[in-house]
Amino acid sequence: MKKLFTLLMIGIVIPLILASFKPEKPAKPETAQYIVIAWNDLGMHCANLDFSNMCILPPYNNQKAHVIMKGDASSMPTVMPHSSGIYVSYSIPGNTFSAGKTNFWTYSQHLFGVILAPDMGLAGFGLAGIMLNADTINYHYATGIPVTAFPDAFPTTSTPYQLTLIKAYTAGGQELASTQSVIPISHEISCVSSGCHSSEMNILQSHESVSGFNIANKPILCATCHSDNALGAPGHAGTPPFSQAIHQKHGSIIHTGTVADCYKCHPGPNTQCWRDIMHTAGASGGSVSKCQDCHGSVANVGNTIANGRNPWLQEPSCGATACHGPNYAEETGKLFRQSKGHGGLYCSTCHSSPHSILPSERAEDNVQNIALQGFAGTLKTCSVCHGYTPAAPGPHGYNPLGIKPVSGNIPSDNQLLQNYPNPASFMTNIPYHISIPGKVKIEILDMNGRNITTLVNDFLQAGEYKAEFYTSRVSPGTYICALYSGGKTDFRKIIVAD
Ligand code: HEC
Ligand code: HEC
Ligand code: HEC
Ligand code: HEC
Ligand code: HEC
Repeated sequence: MKKLFTLLMIGIVIPLILASFKPEKPAKPETAQYIVIAWNDLGMHCANLDFSNMCILPPYNNQKAHVIMKGDASSMPTVMPHSSGIYVSYSIPGNTFSAGKTNFWTYSQHLFGVILAPDMGLAGFGLAGIMLNADTINYHYATGIPVTAFPDAFPTTSTPYQLTLIKAYTAGGQELASTQSVIPISHEISCVSSGCHSSEMNILQSHESVSGFNIANKPILCATCHSDNALGAPGHAGTPPFSQAIHQKHGSIIHTGTVADCYKCHPGPNTQCWRDIMHTAGASGGSVSKCQDCHGSVANVGNTIANGRNPWLQEPSCGATACHGPNYAEETGKLFRQSKGHGGLYCSTCHSSPHSILPSERAEDNVQNIALQGFAGTLKTCSVCHGYTPAAPGPHGYNPLGIKPVSGNIPSDNQLLQNYPNPASFMTNIPYHISIPGKVKIEILDMNGRNITTLVNDFLQAGEYKAEFYTSRVSPGTYICALYSGGKTDFRKIIVAD
């Protein structure tokens, strides 16, 4: 009998990691403007196409989206929660069916123990539909979308970077915003096409020495015995995890130390799944030029699992000290794809997915941000969400206006002036004077002296300046503003009203 897997595919696990976000403010009137930003979780999904002999990975793609009500000079952008009644639809124009392009549905019951209607994915999502959302999360998602790399019109031309059409609607059916995001899928699991194995049957035959392996029971799901976090499959105790078995076995054979090692199996010579800014930079002499620079060798990928690494769930990190540092790190204990940053938004909202970090070498990856801000690359145009450019630091402290004097006067003393308006309910301006060039820091502290936020931490020229403090994010009460400059500290009280 085939074991019925609890399909805890990684895509399903993630939404369960609950996000904390601010309670909803009263909705703005109909004149409010919205944007929707969507992305794929992994940057690339891989799936078999022919399931008659074996299954490494089924067709299983994931999309997520944030719906953001834009801000303006008197309100912050708001990530719309479930309670707002907004819903999000997804489809892949030009790709409306998968059954027949792959024989997955012929074998899905044998492999996964579930009876699926054609074109229905393992998590209950089809090729088009409505994304899910919940009170406890501030994003919409569709998991296990069973897309193939073959558009309806080109059933034999592999097209790994297709675009979705994502639309946000009111409960009443009025369209609020739309976007396009990549739904990357490749079938380059190249055991045979790489020239390494003569056939899939040959692979199965060479595995027959293992007890319990019954070739007559094909198609074989490798994850039946080898645990696999990508499938939520527990495997058999004592049998190595799939990633460990596959990388250790081949690590002794494949070790040129180049991207080609990984593209023997990962997609691949045609797909070129690693296409992000770090690949581009590496190609022109940057420090990261191959998969191994972040992951280590093929053997290392397997050996680290033997030494305790949890495959799929413990991966390289942007914030690793040798790379971008703590100001650009993931949330503690979370992967990039699970982490949120500025404004409670997923890192992928502004950067896209792992291995397709923007700007990407694939035009399709750049489509969304070109539509939003007029150029490819990190979403860094504040007005896309804020409606204007705040003078206060944004993501990672990045401040596009820079810190510039507001007048041509050179003051005679370093001084913190009274903020206005005071009390403040949305934003307050904090004027200050710097008389000699030097290091300047401005902090907002609560009444217990704890740092609430740092508004300025820079080397400034002499001049008259103004900082902005967004009070809508803190509870009403009294706060202290502290200016540290020229060896002295100045304090002012700031009142935050409701
Ligand atoms: C019936 C259980 C079972 C299934 C199904 C299974 N394996 Fe294995 N496999 C094992 C066991 C047990 C070992 C460990 C053998 C050992 O310790 O040397 C193993 C070892 C391996 C190794 C390492 C072999 C070596 O020579 O070092 C690879 C690679 C591998 N399996 C790949 C696969 C692939 C690919 C599939 C799916 C087509 C698969 N296995 C399906 C049980 C299974
Ligand atoms: C012999 C084929 C093969 C080669 C060569 C190979 N991989 Fe893999 N890799 C796989 C397969 C198959 C999986 C999916 C395993 C699963 O479903 O859990 C995988 C999964 C992974 C994963 C996710 C699971 C984990 O262990 O965290 C990483 C990371 C990875 N490979 C990195 C690499 C890198 C980097 C290289 C090149 C240095 C490489 N692989 C070379 C076949 C290969
Ligand atoms: C710049 C560093 C870097 C390079 C180069 C790199 N990766 Fe990764 N890789 C990562 C990070 C970071 C993650 C974890 C993503 C996350 O946290 O969500 C990852 C995860 C993975 C995974 C697991 C699935 C996933 O997306 O989480 C696979 C498979 C993988 N990489 C394969 C490769 C292959 C194959 C190459 C080369 C073609 C490669 N990587 C090049 C950084 C890198
Ligand atoms: C609202 C958009 C936004 C979000 C969300 C966001 N970032 Fe960024 N990120 C940026 C911008 C803009 C830059 C460029 C900033 C700069 O030049 O200082 C950047 C730069 C980076 C860099 C490159 C730094 C370097 O050394 O050049 C890394 C790495 C990074 N972000 C990681 C993350 C991670 C991890 C998250 C999630 C925890 C995240 N970002 C969330 C907008 C964002
Ligand atoms: C993708 C949308 C998005 C982009 C792009 C963006 N922001 Fe934000 N920002 C938000 C959201 C959402 C909040 C949270 C609002 C809230 O909590 O009420 C926020 C909050 C803020 C705040 C309030 C304090 C804080 O850090 O939470 C400041 C200041 C700010 N952003 C500045 C910037 C600047 C400067 C830029 C451009 C470099 C920028 N933002 C780009 C969405 C965005």
